Amino acid sequence: MAQKVLITAAASGIGLEIARAFVEAGSTVFITDIHQQTIDAATIEIPGLLATLCNNGKRSDIERMVPEAVAALGGLDVLVNNAGIAGPTAPVEEMDPDKWEEVMAVDLVGTFNVTRLAIPHLKKSSAGSIITMSSLGGRFGYPNRSPYNVAKAGLIGFAKTLAIELGDHNIRSNAIAPGAVGGQRMCWQAAPKQQAGAWKKNERPCSVFKRSNSSSIRKISHLFAFSLPPMQAGPSRGRSSLSTMARLKLPNRMNRSNFHG
Ligand SMILES: NC(=O)c1ccc[n+]([C@@H]2O[C@H](COP(=O)([O-])OP(=O)(O)OC[C@H]3O[C@@H](n4cnc5c(N)ncnc54)[C@H](O)[C@@H]3O)[C@@H](O)[C@H]2O)c1
Repeated sequence: MAQKVLITAAASGIGLEIARAFVEAGSTVFITDIHQQTIDAATIEIPGLLATLCNNGKRSDIERMVPEAVAALGGLDVLVNNAGIAGPTAPVEEMDPDKWEEVMAVDLVGTFNVTRLAIPHLKKSSAGSIITMSSLGGRFGYPNRSPYNVAKAGLIGFAKTLAIELGDHNIRSNAIAPGAVGGQRMCWQAAPKQQAGAWKKNERPCSVFKRSNSSSIRKISHLFAFSLPPMQAGPSRGRSSLSTMARLKLPNRMNRSNFHG
């Protein structure tokens, strides 16, 4: 089924792979990102991709972006709340409070703002779906990553709330909680550790993450098959990814048949 899909912060990384998976499934996809250059590269790479600039931490950007996306798509069936910055790495007592607030603004408050504006349009869809990108950090915590962990835990609560609030409108809400995913972000995060000599000489951070148990971006994008109506989302596609990542699947009252533990 051709769906109308909005994905935040998706001009590169996991979001771009999710966009590619939806486009390959015949959907129309609108992405946002904070960098115009990255958007330009993405729209060349995936012809037909619709896009606009939007800082997920800025409410005025979001208030312009959502109506623009819905108008360009001609409606909305699926919202993918992918936006999320990693934020600083420091113990709580040394954490810069401005940087803490920035993570909350982009990851948590921004997701709330996009979602609240998208809901009236999703209610008009015959099978609306909201997918929110959490993290293992949101379930179990990571040391020295308190703002990220708190934001991602908050998003799990948000996804649960949406599932309960929107079930009667036939809108599903799921949160996905991957562990470390190979990609550019992990290379950046790994670089200081390598510089500090924590890893063997000549071992490039990217290769470390390739060899480690990181989930492939492609596998994550396949989890998004769950946003398709039950008839189309084959359970095996989602189950096959469970071994490499934790997944929180939140059924709502209207969609219990789509719940795979
Ligand atoms: N990479 C991982 O290992 C991992 C693991 C678990 C969860 N996640 C989550 O998955 C999502 C995507 O992760 P990723 O690694 O692909 O991200 P990423 O760091 O590669 O960034 C993806 C895109 O976000 C854009 N962006 C950055 N700040 C933005 C802002 N304020 N507004 C709009 N766009 C912005 C960037 O320009 C980039 O194109 C995030 O929510 C992240 O927390 C990632």
